[in-house]
Amino acid sequence: MARATSPKTKSYQRERWATRIGLVFAMAGNAVGLGNFLRFPVQCVQNGGGAFMIPYLVAFLLLGIPLMWIEWGIGRFGGKYGHGTTPGMFHYLWHHPLAKYLGAIGMALPFGLIVYYIYIESWTLAYSFFSMTGKYMGIESRQGMAQFLSAYQGAVSNEHFSNIGTAYVFFVITLALNFWVLSRGLVKGIESIAKVVLPLLFVFGLILVIRVFTIGTPDPAYPERNVLNGLAFIWNPDFRALTNSRVWVAAAGQIFFTLSVGFGAIQTFASYVSRKDDIVASGLATAGTNEFVEVIIGGSIAIPVAFAFFGLEATREIASSGAFDLGFFSMPIIFQQMPGAQFFGMIWFLLLFIAGITSSVAMAQPLMAFLQDEFKIQRTTAAMLVGGLAFFLMQPVIFFLPYGFLDEMDFWIGTVGLVVFAIIEVVIFIWIFGADKAWREICAGRDFQLPRIFYYIIKYVTPVYLFLLLGFWLVQDGVDVLLMRNVQEANRVYIWFARFLMAGILLLMIFLVRLAWQRKHMIRQQVP
Ligand code: ALA
Repeated sequence: MARATSPKTKSYQRERWATRIGLVFAMAGNAVGLGNFLRFPVQCVQNGGGAFMIPYLVAFLLLGIPLMWIEWGIGRFGGKYGHGTTPGMFHYLWHHPLAKYLGAIGMALPFGLIVYYIYIESWTLAYSFFSMTGKYMGIESRQGMAQFLSAYQGAVSNEHFSNIGTAYVFFVITLALNFWVLSRGLVKGIESIAKVVLPLLFVFGLILVIRVFTIGTPDPAYPERNVLNGLAFIWNPDFRALTNSRVWVAAAGQIFFTLSVGFGAIQTFASYVSRKDDIVASGLATAGTNEFVEVIIGGSIAIPVAFAFFGLEATREIASSGAFDLGFFSMPIIFQQMPGAQFFGMIWFLLLFIAGITSSVAMAQPLMAFLQDEFKIQRTTAAMLVGGLAFFLMQPVIFFLPYGFLDEMDFWIGTVGLVVFAIIEVVIFIWIFGADKAWREICAGRDFQLPRIFYYIIKYVTPVYLFLLLGFWLVQDGVDVLLMRNVQEANRVYIWFARFLMAGILLLMIFLVRLAWQRKHMIRQQVP
């Protein structure tokens, strides 16, 4: 593989991944995130336990893997022309003035995502610190931990936090860490950090899994509350769930979120890959690593241990209350009932933090790459600009959190937006650019023959699956969310504000694309 370019190089040259293992680590870091440890187990329990794995596997094979290859293919193709983001990539795939503006969605989505994702990530860093210092020790109920988090977020004031100050400090530290990594560049920043922290994530994950598996029966008065029954609880299939379309939609949504497909971020990372590299194998390695972390590690920690400590009914209730209840309320209480509570609490939240930061830097990289590729802005300046903009836009997320601001963004960006963008890229790459050329792009540099069946899956099955998914989504939830049917009257103004902010991000990206193309046009005219 090509070496990284020297930062001293005067004229702008795009970086390249230094090693194949570094690339796979960075891509796996991109995929492995909070979704693997918090979202997955909750989704699994809410949607039929072991039976959930059937639609999940189907979505992995028919959506996840094909989209992974499509995005690697689009990314490497664009990188050849010096474009690290979808506006430039789509422009070369479809010679139509609209193409680059559709590509702007592939910058708005990942940037919109970091606007709320980094804030959640900062809670994990804070909780790791609180675990180490023992700050929440002594709080023995989930309600108590819920109050602790509310006060930390500034929604209420109590003996633990009188205002949002502590949360704000951790938010600033987390944001600074993200943009410090990005300012170091692809190889010295993202790749080097991934090579260090990803193995650490495995070690922490393994320690926690071993701890969970050796927990036995925590309360002898309840012999049925043990880890084996906990595992049975998460994996026990309820096949009735398979007839419910919500379960299929939820499984596909989890595949999108966990593999980071439909974001626009994989394309950017893949743009730094050379044509000689086997993206089919690297894409598979990334997806495989993510699934191992999600299903084997993620599925073996939080829910089984919650079952062992709280029993069937309470675990069901925790899962139905969502990922934050599981991660931030239940786990701290469980740790307190074990020897070495502070240590285990610390590594649990540090694990989440590592998973989070390797994903958030990947989501911030598209806008960074756009400024570098299209405007030739220095990487440190680009990091300051993108970091500054994120800081500014994150303020309403932080201060209006209790009014549903974050949830609104997550629905439109982290759920519907991903599917819409996936449809756009599939249509452009497979149908407009052409399935045969797209297949050749994906297969270039491969070390082994890719079964031809995937050609047909990519061409027919994946697009149909995507359209069905979007249709179901809109019918099931979209109309209710759009009309704010479940929103309290007093919160509507905040929801409107969240929509205004999302629309603003998209318009800003469209404006930047326009500016970049005008600049290119001017430069072309100046060349004699
Ligand atoms: N793929 C990332 C996650 O799972 C975004 O959190």
